[in-house]
Amino acid sequence: MQAIILVGGKGTRLRPLTCNIPKAIVPVLNRPFLEHLLRYLGKHGIRDIVLAMGYLPTSIRDCLGDGSQLDVHLTYVVEESPLGTAGAVKNMESLLQGAFVVLNGDILTEIDLTDMIGRHRKVMPRVTMALTPVEDPTMYGVVETSEQGLVTCFVEKPGWGQVATNMINAGIYILDSDILAEIPAATPYMFEQDVFPALLRRGDPILAYPSDACWVDIGTTGNYLKAHHDLLAKQHGHEIVVAGGAHIDATAQIKGPVLVGAGSWIGENAMIVGPAVLGSYCSIAHDVVIDGALLWDGVTVAEGACLHNCVIGSSVRVEAACDIADGCVLGDHVVIQQGSRLPPDTRIWPDGCVNSDREI
Ligand code: GTP
Repeated sequence: MQAIILVGGKGTRLRPLTCNIPKAIVPVLNRPFLEHLLRYLGKHGIRDIVLAMGYLPTSIRDCLGDGSQLDVHLTYVVEESPLGTAGAVKNMESLLQGAFVVLNGDILTEIDLTDMIGRHRKVMPRVTMALTPVEDPTMYGVVETSEQGLVTCFVEKPGWGQVATNMINAGIYILDSDILAEIPAATPYMFEQDVFPALLRRGDPILAYPSDACWVDIGTTGNYLKAHHDLLAKQHGHEIVVAGGAHIDATAQIKGPVLVGAGSWIGENAMIVGPAVLGSYCSIAHDVVIDGALLWDGVTVAEGACLHNCVIGSSVRVEAACDIADGCVLGDHVVIQQGSRLPPDTRIWPDGCVNSDREI
C-alpha cells in the first residue's frame, strides 16, 4: 500500500520555530520529525511514500533524499499554491492506485496501522479514519460514531457544551482511489471540512478505527514541548543518553530523561533536569540550570542562566544570568542579553521581533 504524508502547511502555530524550516523536519528527540513517521510506516510494511509539499520543500528533500537510508522510497510532489489536505491528494492522482493511506505530517503515533488496513479491507467502507482520545477535544475535530462503529458526525473545535465524546480525528485515513472523483482538481479542498461531511450527507460509510495507542501532535509550540516530555518519559525512563563527542563535567548534575547531542559541552556545576534535550554542539557554561527545556543545535548558554520548560531554536545565544520562563520560544539565532528575564510564553522571532503574529 502507498502512503501520502501531508507536509505542505506553513506550520504557523509552531512559529517562530518554523520561520526557517518546515514543521515536517523540526527536531524531535534530536532527529527530523519525519524520520519518526517514516520509521513507523516502514514498521507497518509501507515503503512507497509520497510527500505532498508546499512550504520550504527543498529543505525537506535535502534532509531525507530518496529515503533509502530509512529503507523507504520517497516521491516528492510540490504544490505551487496550497491545495488543502484533499486538494493535495487529488494533485497526485496519477501516482495513486487502489487503496492508500493519508497521514497528517505532524502526528506521531503507535496506532496499529496493519490492523487498521486489515479492518478497511474486510469492511470495505469508502474511508477508514483513525480516532484517538484526548483530554481537551475542544482544540480538535471531534468525531461521533454509531454503535456499528461508523462515523455519524464531525464537530470542528467544539465548545465544551457541545462535546459529546473525547474521540478526535487522529489524522490518519485509508481511502480508495475512487474517492479522488469527489475532489475538484487544482482547487483548495479539505478532507475534514469538504470531503468527509459530503460523504456523510450522502450516507456513504466512513468506518471509525478508535485506538488508545500513543498519539501525539506536534502542531503547536505547547504540544511540541509536551510531546517531547511524553516521548522522553516513555522511551527513556530516567536514562541519560549522550551522543558521541559530548563532554559532561564531573561536577554537573543530570537527572534523566535527558538527551545530549553530539559534540555538546556541559560545564561545572551545571544542572540539567529532564525531561530535557540538548541538540548537537550546544555549549552549557558553569552553573547553568536547564529544567525541562528543549535546545536545538548550536545553542550557547552562558554562566548562571536558567532555562525552564522552553524551546530554544538553533544557534541561539543566551548570555550570563538570564532567566527564561516556562513556555518561552526563541527563534533561530536570537541573542538574549545578559541578565534578561523573559516572562512566561514570550516568543522571539529570528529577527528579534517579540510575540509577533505577522505572516512570513
Ligand atoms: P498551522 O498553520 O499551524 O495550522 O499548521 P499547518 O497548516 O501546517 O497544519 P494543519 O494542522 O492545519 O494541517 C495538518 C497537516 O496537513 C499538516 O501536516 C500540514 O502540513 C498539512 N497541510 C495543511 N494544508 C496543506 C496544503 O494545502 N497542502 C499540503 N500538501 N499539506 C497541507
